[in-house]
Amino acid sequence: MAILVTGGLGYIGSHTCVELMNAGRDIVVVDNLYNCKKSSYDRIKALVGRDFKFYECDIRDAKGLAKIFENEDIDSVIHFAGLKSVPESVREPLKYFDNNINGTLVLLDVMRNHGCKKIVFSSSATVYGINNVSPLTEDMEVGGVTNPYGRTKYMIECILKDLCTSDEEWSVCLLRYFNPIGAHKSGTMGEEPNGIPANLMPYITQVAIGKLEYLNVNGSDFDTPDGTGVRDYIHVVDLSIGHLKAVDKIEGENGLFIYNLGTGVGYSVLDVVNAFEKASGVKIPYKIGPRRAGDVATCYSNSSKAFKELGWKAERGIEEMCEDSWRWQKQNPNGYPD
Ligand code: NAD
Ligand code: UD1
Repeated sequence: MAILVTGGLGYIGSHTCVELMNAGRDIVVVDNLYNCKKSSYDRIKALVGRDFKFYECDIRDAKGLAKIFENEDIDSVIHFAGLKSVPESVREPLKYFDNNINGTLVLLDVMRNHGCKKIVFSSSATVYGINNVSPLTEDMEVGGVTNPYGRTKYMIECILKDLCTSDEEWSVCLLRYFNPIGAHKSGTMGEEPNGIPANLMPYITQVAIGKLEYLNVNGSDFDTPDGTGVRDYIHVVDLSIGHLKAVDKIEGENGLFIYNLGTGVGYSVLDVVNAFEKASGVKIPYKIGPRRAGDVATCYSNSSKAFKELGWKAERGIEEMCEDSWRWQKQNPNGYPD
């Protein structure tokens, strides 16, 4: 019995593959290599010391996916495959609706046709929108999203909920990630953003390595202790381990399960800059600029439901997140090899 990991060569997927295999699970990975390099596959293998099946295939390709289900003994799916850039989604909404929503519909249809009804889905804290007040809990109303990327996450959550209502054989776990950063301890796997990073940590590491001159801090007039935005950063390895627990859950029980995966602690932009400087010994020059459209002042989780029901909690603190992000950036200034 194997777990199909869609988008398994990407940032979170690759770290999750390592944790799954280290826990003795068999995996099959499908990725269309749109936002990753094939060398990520080699790095996962090298870290685990064991091979696994990889299919280069787009999840919108129903025939290709069906073949994978026919060839392999797939019992459950962890569904990472998706596009994730907020600004790109504003410019090209149809691309996001097609890839993320249509891709998920094709995947669900193929799964159902092959009697596989267990799925863990990569959702996001973005589904809480701009109207809920942190700490965010799973029972809060979702949907006040401000951009097409966020809407794809919200709409896929709705689709999966309706599916569970229609057929009680489905077992679905929605994982709402907060802000994943960090990298594998080895420094051989990490996040490789496309072009100039939109997110905070990859921007900071590129300033540290000298690729970018300084960090633009997006506003210092928020209602937060130092005026800069507060977020719940979570180490990607902690996040990955959350997926192991989620798979155990859907293997044991049918129904719909929803969990926040965060640390429950918020750090401001300047807290992260300070923590990074301490961890790396590198000074990060920054300039305060205007707010970024759509940004909330504060967003952090209450992740106690995941602890109560899955026995999961984040173990790695902000120092370790910064150290590991820096090690990855230093050892791989140009990301994964071609
Ligand atoms: P990523 O881009 O590194 O990984 C996604 C992978 O999916 C890539 O390897 C890409 O090539 C693949 N992919 C995309 N579309 C595909 C398709 N149609 N068919 C097959 N493969 C496809 O992103 P990530 O940071 O690892 O994120 C994984 C998931 O988690 C995404 O769904 C993302 O929206 C979600 N998420 C990420 C964050 C974050 O901050 N990184 C936060 C919340 C949720
Ligand atoms: C963003 C997305 C969110 C997505 C998440 C992870 C928006 C509005 N939200 O969340 O949907 O799920 O990334 O991919 O884009 N910052 C700077 N300078 C920078 C970059 C960021 O000051 O160069 C600040 C931001 O304003 C924010 C904090 O750093 O206060 C974290 O930003 P980021 O890493 O982009 O994450 P989110 O805004 O939480």
